Amino acid sequence: MIHAHITAWVLALVLFFVALGLHKGGNEKGAKIAHMVLRLFYVLILLTGFWLLFSITIDIMYVLKAAVGLWVISMFEMIVIRTKKNEKASVLWIQFTVALLLVLYLGFSLPLGTDLF
Ligand code: HEM
Repeated sequence: MIHAHITAWVLALVLFFVALGLHKGGNEKGAKIAHMVLRLFYVLILLTGFWLLFSITIDIMYVLKAAVGLWVISMFEMIVIRTKKNEKASVLWIQFTVALLLVLYLGFSLPLGTDLF
């Protein structure tokens, strides 16, 4: 399940940048499709994430990891929407960077899967 989880968030990250890139390139239809597929990946991240969460003895660090994961997903969605509306998203980008670095640190420092830190 950890590999499914990693595959889901890596693909979501790629789709996020693809959706933004297509929008910048003026391909609204492509951007809309990429955004729809990205939303499907939110569901996959959530399913695999909650699966992992409930398959272990829950500890506060896992709950924190899950909460920061939810923060990253909300930033994906809010940045895509703001960018589509051609509105400024700099505060969201700062939050996105902080949340992503934090979730990678927490994920890779917790015992399941790769234990980097
Ligand atoms: C875009 C959002 C997310 C990212 C980038 C992310 C990233 C990661 C990473 C890097 C790991 C560690 C993989 C490894 O050790 O090999 C991980 C594990 C995990 N994730 Fe996520 N995750 C996200 C969303 C979520 C959500 C929404 C939940 C729960 C609802 C969740 C729950 C978990 C759990 C329980 C683990 C196992 C912790 C461990 O490594 O021991 N994640 N995730």
